[in-house]
Amino acid sequence: MGAKIFPGQRLDTVIASIPIQELWHMQRVGELTNELLRLMVQYASYQNHVDKLSRFNHYGFFHDIGKAWIPVEILKKSDLLTPEEYKKVKMHPVYAKEYFEKNPDVIDIEPSIKSLLFDAAVYHHERWDGGGYPYNLSGDNIPLIARVVAVCDAYDAITTKRPYREAKPHKEACREIKTNAGTQFDPDIAAIFLENEKGFRVVHRRQSLRMMNEEVGIKELFDSGCYL
Ligand SMILES: [Fe+2]
Ligand SMILES: [Fe+2]
Repeated sequence: MGAKIFPGQRLDTVIASIPIQELWHMQRVGELTNELLRLMVQYASYQNHVDKLSRFNHYGFFHDIGKAWIPVEILKKSDLLTPEEYKKVKMHPVYAKEYFEKNPDVIDIEPSIKSLLFDAAVYHHERWDGGGYPYNLSGDNIPLIARVVAVCDAYDAITTKRPYREAKPHKEACREIKTNAGTQFDPDIAAIFLENEKGFRVVHRRQSLRMMNEEVGIKELFDSGCYL
C-alpha cells in the first residue's frame, strides 16, 4: 500500500494489503495471546488486570498491522533480508502508531481495550532488557499486553517454517522462551507460558492442522472472527 498513512484510511483496506501469510501469523498470535491471557488472569499477580485482560480476546491479531506499510516484496522475500530491508521491517510498530494516531476511531471497541490493542501493535518488539525496538523500553515500562504478545509472537515465529529454515517443534520453542526469559521476555509471563506449555502445544497443533489447508483465504480469515 506504500508508506502513506492518512486520516480516514479504512481498516479493511489496510488489512487487505497485508500478504495472507502475514495475516495467518497475525491470526495465530491472536489466538496464542488469548490463551496466555486466559491463563494469566488465574494468577494472583494479575488480579488487578483481570477485567481488561480477560476482555482483550483475539485482538492480538492487530499486533502486526503496521506491516501494511512495509513493501510487499520485502514481506514475501524468500531469502534472508539484507540489513537495509530489515531496517524497513523494523518500522512496522512505528507505522502502527502513526495509523492509530491518525485514525483513533477505526476500531469500534471500548476505549480501555482499544488502548491495549494499540499498545500491542506499537510495543510488541520491545525487549525486557531494553534491547528491543523501536523505543528501547525495558521491564515494566513496556505495556503488559505488549510483553504478552512478545512471547506469543516469538513462539509462532519459532514454530513456523521460514524460507531459510524448517519450523522448529513446540519443545524447541519452549526451550528458547526459557533461555530468553528475563532478557527478551518478561520472566513472569514466560514462566506462566512454560508452566502451561501443554495447552500451547494443543493450540499449535490445531493451528498447524488448519494451516495444512492452504485454501484458507482472506475471506475465511475474516469470517473466522479473529478480528472485528
Ligand atoms: Fe511485529
Ligand atoms: Fe508478529
